[in-house]
Amino acid sequence: MVFVDASAGMRTFYMLLKVSPTDVKLLAMIQPLCLLIAVSLLSVGLHATSAHVIVLPPIPPHAPPTSQLLDPRLASFSIEFSYLPSFGGNKSNPNILSQELIQRLVERTGVGPDIRPGGITVDSTVFSPNSPALVLDESPTGGIYKTTFGPAYYESLGIFPDSSLVVMDVNLGNNTVSFARDEIAAAIQYIGWDRIRALELGNEADHYPGGLRPSGWTEADYTAQFLNWTEILTANLTLPSHIFQAGGFADSWSTQGIIDEGIDTTGVVKLFCQHTYQYSTCDPSRNAIATLPNLIDHGNITAFLDQWKPQVAAAHSRGKEFVVGEYNSVSCSGKENVTNTFGQALWLADTVLYGSSIGISRMYLHQGATLVFQSNQQSNAPGFSWYDLWYPVPTDRYGPARASPSFVAYLFITEAIGTSQQSRISILPSISSQPQFAAYAIWDKTLRSSGPAKLAILNLATRNVTSTQTEKDNVAIEVDLSEYIQKGRMGRVKRMTALGLDSTDSANATWAGQSFENGVASGVENVENLVDGKVTIQGSEAVLVFF
Ligand SMILES: *[C@@H]1O[C@H](CO)[C@@H](O)[C@H](O)[C@H]1NC(C)=O
Ligand SMILES: *[C@@H]1O[C@H](CO)[C@@H](O)[C@H](O)[C@H]1NC(C)=O
Ligand SMILES: *[C@@H]1O[C@H](CO)[C@@H](O)[C@H](O)[C@H]1NC(C)=O
Ligand SMILES: *[C@@H]1O[C@H](CO)[C@@H](O)[C@H](O)[C@H]1NC(C)=O
Ligand SMILES: *[C@@H]1O[C@H](CO)[C@@H](O)[C@H](O)[C@H]1NC(C)=O
Ligand SMILES: *[C@@H]1O[C@H](CO)[C@@H](O)[C@H](O)[C@H]1NC(C)=O
Ligand SMILES: *[C@@H]1O[C@H](CO)[C@@H](O)[C@H](O)[C@H]1NC(C)=O
Ligand SMILES: *[C@@H]1O[C@H](CO)[C@@H](O)[C@H](O)[C@H]1NC(C)=O
Repeated sequence: MVFVDASAGMRTFYMLLKVSPTDVKLLAMIQPLCLLIAVSLLSVGLHATSAHVIVLPPIPPHAPPTSQLLDPRLASFSIEFSYLPSFGGNKSNPNILSQELIQRLVERTGVGPDIRPGGITVDSTVFSPNSPALVLDESPTGGIYKTTFGPAYYESLGIFPDSSLVVMDVNLGNNTVSFARDEIAAAIQYIGWDRIRALELGNEADHYPGGLRPSGWTEADYTAQFLNWTEILTANLTLPSHIFQAGGFADSWSTQGIIDEGIDTTGVVKLFCQHTYQYSTCDPSRNAIATLPNLIDHGNITAFLDQWKPQVAAAHSRGKEFVVGEYNSVSCSGKENVTNTFGQALWLADTVLYGSSIGISRMYLHQGATLVFQSNQQSNAPGFSWYDLWYPVPTDRYGPARASPSFVAYLFITEAIGTSQQSRISILPSISSQPQFAAYAIWDKTLRSSGPAKLAILNLATRNVTSTQTEKDNVAIEVDLSEYIQKGRMGRVKRMTALGLDSTDSANATWAGQSFENGVASGVENVENLVDGKVTIQGSEAVLVFF
């Protein structure tokens, strides 16, 4: 079949081609006429677009042995330490929007996502048993220089279900072991071991040299301090073995580096962690390239994450998980009209599914705020980050509390994972003629003994809000999945879509026809059927097919 556009005549041609294949006579009759139209159109400069029918690489009946079991908490959260109360509220005033949004994820995987209260503000925190929930020492422009917190701080975690596990990040930056000790003791008392997955020392220690540590401070120094402190803390608080998440670096140090320094020799490391931010607004040169076309690009996304493959392998060589303990698209709090668009949803879906396909166990999406001391050149002013999945409270700058257009990506991902805890994922080989096409097969023995249970298909080719019909037609793709449909079924489709890549409108960013701006599904659910085994995916759109 050929996709044609640009004129009523060509549309007729396309429609005629869609007639039943048995109607050969009619086709034979009109063919010369259509060719004539096509030729005349080409001669006046209009082009018939190439066929966007995707020939899918074969999906093996069983998950490849290298594919990893999908963690039901793959799509987890890091929340900037000093903003957790803004997101969670407290016992008497829980943040209902946050609670509802988290519940939408629980409905899809059966468990709550992990939550890591952490980030740059953790390195200036002090726990005080008599303090109110949160006391911030701020600069005149809203930078947080110190956070004092008390027992009521932990009430903010109440919006997460008991099945949400906590990675507790504590102050390493201040270089005062009693601060870390008191924070861990408080976490044990107010969260409890049944909900603590791991303890983490500090945030992005590779950024300490020249600030919180002398400029010559190295990976070896970090490792020595980690080993010293974990020994002191383990003895002082009678900690279980294998409870620390090691690493958590931004960009200059690595998992392999600290393993080489001997970090995993004393039985305290549970897993390894690094942070990933693909772009940044921390300085003007990086701000200039933090654009939607650069960000929402399958090649850029995969090339960026591929840089962590050796670190994933290093962790696995120690028999330990590798997690991305903090990530988002654009560091220094995102970028207006880039990370608060539907494009961020597409970036998230591709980033997290690809991350899981290369062996990353969980990814903790950072929800934060702009912090003046993060960089003195950043383009953002203080306030919630432009990349946040939702704005938990109303603000002058961001308007009403609501989910951002990217929230639907976490529905897409969690529904791809499902509730079985038996699903495995693998990316299908890329198609050279369609660089913005990405497909992830998901096998799940509880749903299907042989053959894929689900297929996530992303079309990252740009369809902007203002794209013309021709531009939209040029990037639409069609995939024939008939050979994978189970006997007696039709194959169902849930679609993640919006008005366009650059749309900031949450009410029109939908998952299976419903938007989630207010935390609950709005609109009528639309679960489509494959049509003759086929599905069409517009540019800037993704579908999850259930076989
Ligand atoms: C809970 O939040 C409300 C509203 O922000 C606040 O007034 C109250 O003091 C908080 N309670 C505690 C124990 O922090
Ligand atoms: C460490 O914490 C103390 C007490 O809050 C504070 O006075 C000091 O400035 C901090 N030092 C660093 C390097 O953050
Ligand atoms: C270990 O840490 C403690 C507490 O900060 C410090 O007093 C001690 O000197 C450190 N030991 C080594 C060998 O660095
Ligand atoms: C733990 O540290 C506290 C405070 O520094 C100290 O009072 C206590 O004796 C220590 N306990 C153990 C078992 O090391
Ligand atoms: C993103 O991808 C595009 C197209 O492949 C490429 O031209 C561009 O250099 C990439 N940008 C970055 C910052 O890697
Ligand atoms: C973002 O887009 C809106 C609407 O088009 C526009 O008014 C605003 O100036 C843009 N902001 C930036 C920083 O580009
Ligand atoms: C879509 O919009 C972005 C932002 O305005 C622009 O950079 C890009 O060129 C547009 N792409 C298309 C295909 O129109
Ligand atoms: C966007 O969503 C609103 C609210 O659901 C709806 O009224 C409006 O028609 C939608 N706009 C478009 C262009 O679909």
